[in-house]
Amino acid sequence: MSTQAPIRRITAPQITARKGGEPVVSLTSYHAHTAAIVDRYADFILVGDSLGMVMHGMESTVPVPLDLMIMHGRAVVRGTKQALIVVDMPFGTYEESPQIAFRNAARIMKETNCGAVKLEGGARMADTIHFLVERGIPVMGHIGLTPQSTNTLGGFKTQGRDEDTWPIYQADAKAVAEAGAFSIVLEGMVEPLAAQISKEIKIPTIGIGASAECDGQILVLEDMLGLNPNPPKFVKQYGNLLQGIEDAVEGYAKDVKSRAFPTNDQTYQIKK
Ligand code: KIV
Repeated sequence: MSTQAPIRRITAPQITARKGGEPVVSLTSYHAHTAAIVDRYADFILVGDSLGMVMHGMESTVPVPLDLMIMHGRAVVRGTKQALIVVDMPFGTYEESPQIAFRNAARIMKETNCGAVKLEGGARMADTIHFLVERGIPVMGHIGLTPQSTNTLGGFKTQGRDEDTWPIYQADAKAVAEAGAFSIVLEGMVEPLAAQISKEIKIPTIGIGASAECDGQILVLEDMLGLNPNPPKFVKQYGNLLQGIEDAVEGYAKDVKSRAFPTNDQTYQIKK
């Protein structure tokens, strides 16, 4: 008799089955408490390597180490019950060979208990995606503006502005889908290109700064919460937490300085 609890989380094949159906809701999260909130609304949560910039003040995602991804991945898995958790493979952990990619992806899966990994790159990563999927690791692709390649792309620039380049992105998306990825992020590409790719491939496309025609959308949680002082232009802010935190910290500092320090626990109140 099995003592395993039944799997209740959304699975990678369930995301694939959403192609052309109800749009897939997803957000990034790096942290147990915020992930618990996102978990109530999202189909999948991405522990993105953007955490290097958002949480750790790095200038790009290039320096993010594997151990950091695993640490945040564990926190998000611990904080959630329902969403599929996808963990980004950081730069330098999968490009060299399918075997090295498998070793690092297996570490992520075993040490975080997540349900899938994501890696950047189109046709050039197809063999690696196939190798991982064949060996039991669900892979999400990521093409267009691929932040780990910021040094070769020359910055965080919208891709596909020149229509002559579209066939390259279309071929990349097709290669990733045919290699067995369960879905693919289209980041920072001109709208009609993202819409066209969404029509052409058989797996769900997840847009970020791409097109409303994608099969789902993802945003960096801190960007949509108004916690990033310089969010990308395409991001709609659904909250203004930066101001909320500023007000709360200012209020706290005032209370401490005036010794009017209220607490909820009356035993801490000074009796006069
Ligand atoms: O790292 C990340 O947060 C991402 C999303 C922007 C898709 O890859």
